[in-house]
Amino acid sequence: MSDNLARHFLLREDVTFLNHGSFGACPRPVFETYQAFQLELEREPVEFLGRRLTENMAVPRRALAAELGTSADNIVGLTNATTGLNIVAQSLDLKPGDQILTTDHEYSALEKTWAYVCRKTGAEVVVVTIPLPLVEEAQFTDAIIAGMTDKTRVLFLSHITSPTALVFPIERAVAEARRRGIWSVIDGAHTPGHIRLDLDALGADFYSGNCHKWMMAPKGSAFLHARPEVQGLLDPLVISHGWTADSKLPGAKGAFGNSPFIDEIEMQGTRDPSPWLTVPAAIKFRQENDWWAIADHCRALAQDTARRLGERTGLAPLSAPQFCAPQMVAMPIPDCDAPAIHTTLFERYGIEIPVFKWQDRCIARLSVQGYNSKPQMDRLIDALSELLNLKAPEAA
Ligand SMILES: Cc1ncc(COP(=O)(O)O)c(C=O)c1O
Repeated sequence: MSDNLARHFLLREDVTFLNHGSFGACPRPVFETYQAFQLELEREPVEFLGRRLTENMAVPRRALAAELGTSADNIVGLTNATTGLNIVAQSLDLKPGDQILTTDHEYSALEKTWAYVCRKTGAEVVVVTIPLPLVEEAQFTDAIIAGMTDKTRVLFLSHITSPTALVFPIERAVAEARRRGIWSVIDGAHTPGHIRLDLDALGADFYSGNCHKWMMAPKGSAFLHARPEVQGLLDPLVISHGWTADSKLPGAKGAFGNSPFIDEIEMQGTRDPSPWLTVPAAIKFRQENDWWAIADHCRALAQDTARRLGERTGLAPLSAPQFCAPQMVAMPIPDCDAPAIHTTLFERYGIEIPVFKWQDRCIARLSVQGYNSKPQMDRLIDALSELLNLKAPEAA
C-alpha cells in the first residue's frame, strides 16, 4: 500500500511520520486545488471574496453534508474544531450552579474553554472517570448516565479522544441527554474521514469536526453541525457582515440569504476560505482512491504494531479493539521521561510520534495513514525497544 500511496503526499522523506493525528497531511492533488484557490483569490480578490463567496461557500457545505449524513443547512464551515466548540460553549445560556458533564479524556484546549465559560457564568465542570481498559459499551454509558443530575445542562464528549485514541460509544449517552433536556456537545475533531458518521442519526445537538485531519483537506478546514431546533441558540464569536439585528426572530435570514446560523458564523471578516473550498476535492480524492479500504489496511497495521509493542512492554492495551480509533492507537509504554523520549525519537531516529504522560501512564500515540508502511512500524518498535530497554518476546 504505502510506497505507492506515499507519492501522493508532500511529507519529508527523511522523517518517519507517525503523527497524522495532530494536524493531518494533505495529498498532493488536494493541495494543488487549495493553491489554485489561493491564486484565484490573489488575482481578483473582489471577485473571489466579494461577488462569488456566498455561492462558493455553499459547495463544500453540500459535499460535506452528504458525507456526514445531514443537510447542508445544518453545517457551517469554519477554521478548526476549537472554534466550533467555542462558539457553542460561549453561546449557551449557563448560570451559577449549572453543571457541564464531561470525561477525563478530553482535549486540553477544550477543557480550558469550559473552565473559561465556568469562570464567566458560575457554572461548574463535573468530570467522570471512564474506566480503563474500555471493553464494553456499558462501562462508558453507565458512567456518563450516573454523572447526570438535575443540574446537568451540558454533556461534552469527545467522539474520538486525543490522549487515549478511543472511540467513545456516545450514542446512548447522547440519546439520554436529549431525553433529559441536556444539551449534547460533541468534539469530533478526529472523526471525519476516520469513522463513518451519520450526524442526523446520532442526534447530538452540536457536533464540531475537522476536515484537515483524517479527511485530508488543507489545514484550516472544519465544520460545526447544529440540529435545526438549537441553531438559534448560537451567537458568532466575531460580529461581522453576516449578522442582522433581527436574527433571533422566527424565520429570520442572515445577511446573505442563508439562515443566521450559517451567515453569522461563516462570514466573519476578511480571511482565506481556500481550505474550506478545497473540502470537496479531498472528498473526491478519497473516493477515487477507495480510502475506506486503505483505512482498513491502516487499522490492521496499527493494531498489529500495538500488539507487537505490547508483547515487549507487557502492558495491557487501553481498550478492546472495537473502541480503539481505527487509524490511531495510544500504546502504553513503561514509565519514562516522556518528553525526552519524544525528542530523541525525532532527533536520533527521525521518527515523529507523540510520546507523553497522561494521568499515571506513559503513552506513545501511533497514527497510521495510507503513506505509512510496515518497515516504518518495525523502525518504531526497534527505536522504542532501544530507548526503553525492551526485549523481544523470544529473548525476554
Ligand atoms: C479531541 C480533540 N479536540 C479538539 C482538537 C483541536 O483541533 P483543532 O486544533 O483543529 O481545533 C484536537 C486536536 O488534535 C483534538 O484531538
